[in-house]
Amino acid sequence: MIELKTQIPGPKSIALMERRKKAVARGPFHTTPIFAEKAQGAWITDVDGNRLLDFSSGIGVVNVGHSPETVVKAAKNQLEKFIHTSFNVVAYENYIAVCEKLNSAMPGIFSKKSFLVNSGAEAVENAIKIARSFTGRQAVVCFQHAYHGRTYMAMSLTAKAKPYKYGFAPFNSEIYRAPFPYAYRWPTTDQPEKVAEECFAEFKTLVNFEIGVSQVAAVIIEPVLGEGGFVPAPKHFLSLLRDFCNENKIVLIFDEVQCGFGRTGTLFASEQLGVTPDLLVSAKGIAAGLPLSAVTGKSEMMDAPSEGGIGGTYCGNPVACSAALAVFQEWEKGTLKNNLQRLEITLKETTEKWLGDSPHVGDARGLGPMRAIEFVKDKKTKEPFPEAVKLIIKSAYEKGLILMSAGTFSNIIRFLPPLSISEADLKEGLKIVEEAIREI
Ligand SMILES: Cc1ncc(COP(=O)(O)O)c(C=O)c1O
Repeated sequence: MIELKTQIPGPKSIALMERRKKAVARGPFHTTPIFAEKAQGAWITDVDGNRLLDFSSGIGVVNVGHSPETVVKAAKNQLEKFIHTSFNVVAYENYIAVCEKLNSAMPGIFSKKSFLVNSGAEAVENAIKIARSFTGRQAVVCFQHAYHGRTYMAMSLTAKAKPYKYGFAPFNSEIYRAPFPYAYRWPTTDQPEKVAEECFAEFKTLVNFEIGVSQVAAVIIEPVLGEGGFVPAPKHFLSLLRDFCNENKIVLIFDEVQCGFGRTGTLFASEQLGVTPDLLVSAKGIAAGLPLSAVTGKSEMMDAPSEGGIGGTYCGNPVACSAALAVFQEWEKGTLKNNLQRLEITLKETTEKWLGDSPHVGDARGLGPMRAIEFVKDKKTKEPFPEAVKLIIKSAYEKGLILMSAGTFSNIIRFLPPLSISEADLKEGLKIVEEAIREI
């Protein structure tokens, strides 16, 4: 149960925010004004002793819950053995074991290899390096509403200008943006099959006539948009892309940084979409909060960069690798999988009820338990309503629930509770959201 001992933010959080303002760069944003003391499962206790329910999972990272015992134990064990040698200098087994797990988890019947780095953005960078090295081509096609991170290549692939790209130009060259099959905002129809056909026609025009197909190294897509607002790409669109990439020897990259590690109900979203990429980028949920990310893919592609061509001091840190192996064990136990179905049903039913009841919930969507609601001023015009989202998030944290927004127009609320959350806790949080929606 949520337990509030002070107003949110409490006096200790307020004091820390003052120190933060003086000592820390303005750049990093804050969804809530609170500071954490400890966290367990779906709960965060702040420095003022308030117990808050977490529907953010640290931006979709602690999918197995905050600090699960098994992960803590595995990380502690590794910490006591050694913290860092650099895989490039003296290698260690748990790096290899994580790669073996990823290779067998990635869909597709072909020989696979993996490479570990530290963040989602870094993994995206490396996927592009691998694709360019393999094909000897330069152009990369990405999509509207995409988010791939904040380093220069990842930022260049990201769609939204403010705040992610604003003032940081010039961006990387040879990047081309195609429309994303966003059914709710597609101008002619919202039927997924038709949206897929029309969107693919635009993609083909771009590639064939504006880039030149023989110049394209890679197509990178989130099978379900993350920051873009939990929009699943229709299966049909992904399979058209797959065929096109096969025919034209283009590397198809799925960025599953946000939709991977169970968020959509299967370990990777691609498992249930019936389309296998050549390279799969994963991060976030992989190590329950320790910094780790990966590129997994076809062996012949992964081996394209020469020895020393990819790497880095901290890549695949041993403590993060131990945590990742514990996360895989959590998955293999199967308890989480059972929870996912229940989570999907409750989130889907509740958000669809709001879609019916509220004049401002224009769309309720997602894949599996990865669900979001899109706010509009008017259901006919679909004019985005970011002010409503701001109010709901503020009202929620003041009542002890941590929520996150999303979307190019900042008008979406995404639900990212730990996948291990209990039904009672989930319902407690959803009740707060419902009250806040009614107050708009
Ligand atoms: C789909 C996707 N790709 C890449 C990234 C970047 O990951 P990171 O913040 O770990 O660099 C994110 C982060 O939210 C993401 O959602």
